[in-house]
This record gives sequence, structure tokens and C-alpha cells, in this order.
Amino acid sequence: MLTPSMEDYLEKIYELMKEKGYARVSDIASSLSVQPSSVTKMLQKLDEQSYVTYEKYRGFVLTNSGEQLGKAMKQRHHMLAELLRMLQIPEDILQADVEGIEHHVSPQTLSKLSRLVDYFQSDSERLDALMLYCYEADHKTSSR
Ligand code: CO
Repeated sequence: MLTPSMEDYLEKIYELMKEKGYARVSDIASSLSVQPSSVTKMLQKLDEQSYVTYEKYRGFVLTNSGEQLGKAMKQRHHMLAELLRMLQIPEDILQADVEGIEHHVSPQTLSKLSRLVDYFQSDSERLDALMLYCYEADHKTSSR
């Protein structure tokens, strides 16, 4: 069972490995704004569950299952951010909300939300219609 924090670590390690080919404790610590000692502790936990493994000259690397999960976490984060961006949520609120939502959404809901993003993004007229609807609805309530 993955905790929200384990999910964030897997996502971050996945990102670092894609970017640089490795994920150092110091890089993980600075990108998640945590102490290196917390990173070491978490890496031990992830190692126990076979999501990461220690290689002599490379340091910690993701196992196959760790990489699959890390990739899924990154895609989930990206899709939810796209959804909120599409709804024109300001970037700072959007990032904080994605951090909250991503760990508490079921695979079923996630899959339908992804369809919703596709539905609007595949046809700009749909998105325009949605934006107009929101604008008019917001205008109505604020002018009452
Ligand atoms: Co998160």
C-alpha cells in the first residue's frame, strides 16, 4: 500500500531519473523540500517494498514496478493539472489542488476525468462553449 508521500517520492524519483539518469538523495531532498535524512528513510521503505534498489555506482534506482508507478503518478499529476488549467484555475491554486486531489482519486474517476480533458481538448469549440458558459454563469451571480 502506497502512502501519499510514497507516491510523491516515486513521482519525483521518476522525473529525476528521466531528466538526469539518476536520482541523488540531495536532488530528491531539494526538489521535495525535505531533509536528506527523510529521503534516506523513505528510500529504505521503498526498497523494502521493491520499488527502488541500490546499485553500487549509480545509487538508488527505480525497479520495474517502481518505474511503472512513478510514471503513472507523473501522468496522473499532469492530467489533473491539465483539467484545472483548462478550467482556468490560477497556477498557484492549481498546483496546490493537484497535490491534494491526486492522492485521493480512484482509478475509475481518474479515467473518466481523463476522458473529460480529451473531450474538451480535442475540439476547441467545446472548450470555448464551456468558457462562455462559465463566464455567463459567473457574471449572472456577481451582478445580482
Ligand atoms: Co502529491
